[in-house]
Amino acid sequence: MARDHDPMPQSYEFDVLIIGSGAAGLTVALNLPEHLRVCVLSKAAISSGATLWAQGGIAAVLDDEDSIEDHIKDTLASGAGLCHEDAVRFTVEHGKESIDWLINSGVDFTRDENADYHLTREGGHSHRRIIHAADATGHAVSTTLADQAKARPNIDLMSSRVAVDLITNRKLSLPGNRCVGAYILNLDTNHVELFRARFTVIATGGASKAYRYTTNPDGASGDGIAMAWRAGCRVANMEFNQFHPTCLYHPHAKSFLITEAVRGEGGVLKLPDGSRFMDRFDDRAELAPRDIVARAIDHEMKRIGADHLYLDISHKPADFIKHHFPTIYEKCLGFGIDITREPIPVVPAAHYTCGGVISDVRGRTDVNNLYVVGEAGFTGLHGANRMASNSLLECLVYGRSAAADITRREADIPAPPDAPDWDESQVRDSDEDVVISHNWDELRHFMWDYVGIVRTTKRLQRAKHRVDLLSREISEFYSNYRVTNDLLELRNLVTVSDLIICSALQRKESRGLHYTLDYPGLQGEAKDTTLVPTSYRTSSP
Ligand code: FAD
Ligand code: SIN
Repeated sequence: MARDHDPMPQSYEFDVLIIGSGAAGLTVALNLPEHLRVCVLSKAAISSGATLWAQGGIAAVLDDEDSIEDHIKDTLASGAGLCHEDAVRFTVEHGKESIDWLINSGVDFTRDENADYHLTREGGHSHRRIIHAADATGHAVSTTLADQAKARPNIDLMSSRVAVDLITNRKLSLPGNRCVGAYILNLDTNHVELFRARFTVIATGGASKAYRYTTNPDGASGDGIAMAWRAGCRVANMEFNQFHPTCLYHPHAKSFLITEAVRGEGGVLKLPDGSRFMDRFDDRAELAPRDIVARAIDHEMKRIGADHLYLDISHKPADFIKHHFPTIYEKCLGFGIDITREPIPVVPAAHYTCGGVISDVRGRTDVNNLYVVGEAGFTGLHGANRMASNSLLECLVYGRSAAADITRREADIPAPPDAPDWDESQVRDSDEDVVISHNWDELRHFMWDYVGIVRTTKRLQRAKHRVDLLSREISEFYSNYRVTNDLLELRNLVTVSDLIICSALQRKESRGLHYTLDYPGLQGEAKDTTLVPTSYRTSSP
């Protein structure tokens, strides 16, 4: 509810402020009791994050032939020794009830000829266990949950709102370690507004925009991770960036994924001469975990000097392809590629941030009343390599458990203290936006070249040197100029890239998604890389 009626800027107070309207944020909102005043914020349209673009589906044990133990075993194997087994068990055991909740919320999953739900297969899974809505699962989930949220009188959905920073007792010079809301840039008015809340939930998604080539939509700039870090939260395993093996390669295609389910349904990877190669890298061939497939493609591209390879499903009947992959079929046809007759040109691209803000199974972080859910968080589920379709599952399971925890605690949590309005008196409008666009490009180029699929210590040190320079420049810019979405995203990307590089430099081994030529083997004991803001110095602006 608004504190005053001035047209701008406004101040708000809610019971629960949820920053992010993807699967994670909306799941939290919809599982809170209706007597709580809830606000869900999105940088752009309410359905616009990674969730909207998810293709393959959601992994869960839904078939009698499958078992909880097998899903756990597959997840642990993909995670290369770094998954937290308790988090894996918690997630997998709550899988079916989370899918039932989605079905009851109205998500229309694809059925087979017997009217049972069709389950597809993806890399690392020993069973068919991916429930999906054709090849546009994320669209079905995102729009259904957004419609549900719109119908709830206790939920305010606000788009075009960018969280700038969290407000904590520490920043207000008050005793205790509590989050009391956030400063939010209203993109319609260009004013920064004060949002106070008893509970704040970070559900801001991942940081794959740190890389030049990515499957992620605009906005995946790691804002929540950077904000939580600045607010005093530990982060873990930031070196594990997942590169999806198959992003469409076409000069006019921006970030279009070719789902792993294409391989699950028989698609094969080929070199330009038409020969297959994955069996040279892993017995599971195209259905090996993602890190192995992406590295194999990268290796073959470098070996033969190709700028892309091919994914071919054209040996399957045209009707089958069009039925299972209607979105991909149409999209590729728009670029002149008929996937029922010819192979699809593909390259790997940054896809998923396995690390994030450390949380427990209830979504609680190191700062009281601050929760994190979804791709921004680190629960220990994914280890060194996320298994396909375990991510949406994590959003649902942890979204529901965070909402349950808030519900249990809410009667004991008092209203947030007063906080000052955002102070713009010392800043002016920037007259040099070129600095921002130039630095964006530079960051994403060196992250791709030096902190990508194959790393070396020297490349990481080069990247660290550059990120330190950018950090100083952005810090100065931030102190002098009025904030804009581009500046905020760049500031956060610089922070998150720094966390990625520092974590990668700490890991003196190759494990899962982190592969370095200087330490190609495994160290004896699998350990998380944990960065602590109070004692660990990175160059965050
Ligand atoms: P998102 O869905 O990314 O939502 C983030 C939200 O936070 C958005 O509303 C955004 O506007 C908001 N936000 C961000 N920063 C701010 C800020 N500063 N202020 C205000 N709001 C902010 N996973 C699977 O399990 N199965 C799949 O089939 C699958 N396919 C995928 C396909 C693609 C192309 C991509 C990119 C990912 C895929 N993934 C898949 C991964 C999965 O989609 C994501 O991990 C998951 O959707 C993340 O959900 P989220 O709610 O955490 O974040
Ligand atoms: C895909 O459909 O290949 C993406 C699945 C995922 O990222 O989990």
